[in-house]
Amino acid sequence: MSEPATAPEEITIPEDWEPMPIDPNYTAPGFRLLKYCGVTLNNVHLQWGITKSLEQFQGRRSDVIVASFPKSGTTWLQEVVWRVTHHQPTAGEKGPKTCLEYRFPVLESQPQEKLMDMVSLSDMTDQRFIKTHLHYHILPESVKTSGAKVLYVHRDARDVCVSFYHFSRMLNIYKYRGSFADFRDNFMRGEIVHGPYREHVQGYLEHSDTVLCLTYEQMHQDRGSVVRKVADFLGVSLSDADVDDIVKNTSFEVMKANPDTNFRQWEDSGLVSGTEEGTFMRKGVVGDWRNYFTEEESEAFLKWRNEEVAPLN
Ligand code: A3P
Repeated sequence: MSEPATAPEEITIPEDWEPMPIDPNYTAPGFRLLKYCGVTLNNVHLQWGITKSLEQFQGRRSDVIVASFPKSGTTWLQEVVWRVTHHQPTAGEKGPKTCLEYRFPVLESQPQEKLMDMVSLSDMTDQRFIKTHLHYHILPESVKTSGAKVLYVHRDARDVCVSFYHFSRMLNIYKYRGSFADFRDNFMRGEIVHGPYREHVQGYLEHSDTVLCLTYEQMHQDRGSVVRKVADFLGVSLSDADVDDIVKNTSFEVMKANPDTNFRQWEDSGLVSGTEEGTFMRKGVVGDWRNYFTEEESEAFLKWRNEEVAPLN
């Protein structure tokens, strides 16, 4: 791989972090992939002090954590969880007024949240709702021992790859400009942020005795039963009418029209650009991979997806 046109900003890479080959397809100045505990992260994670955030984080019994590999349906599950736990029959389409990011701070982005003038996780006194893309094996130990409730969503890896490709083009801290084929190859090699993918999913599925594991496809097929499962897991009792209301108000159309779930503030803050990729809520379908993979490519990808992998701990 050749060097990018823009020289990366000088960063000191600590001993326990490993530099990865520079991928010139990421054209945002200074962007580079780094490995930490077997996981692909990036310079922004390092610069924002992710290791300190992880060390300082203290899980609480009342915490509710939505975990996923990026682009697997995280936002959708977050909104379901929020509405299940804050259900008001009269909320209607407007629902909660605050941007999802403020309702669900990101475990690995605490310093960023300070920049956004958010209360840090450690200072929050109410029940905490937290989002994370971290692999299970690098979650702070207290998440696993505190009795916090962890929910995990995963999705057909081909659709995750397509969705992540578009998102990587939208994000101004990545500005990915390579082809889909390049992105897919990197995805399979684990050279994408939060990779390697298979180990991420496996790490959570191995703990499905304590983690509620759901799929994007299940949510598509029967959101009512997913809403009930989430409610049972979180110990919330809902009437049939409540469930119907939550199902209606977590549809793709409603969430796309809602700036708080379509992350419109990311456009205002310059984190994403209004490009041909559209908005955060892109297509919201099962099987968009068919527009990107040939039959043979899909077969090879699935063969790779189904290979056994060693756990990353
Ligand atoms: P697409 O890019 O395939 O459209 P995440 O929240 O993990 O980043 O996942 C984003 C993906 O979930 C995007 O997929 C987005 O459109 C989809 N999504 C978000 N909310 C959804 C909903 N209510 N119904 C269906 N898909 C949804």
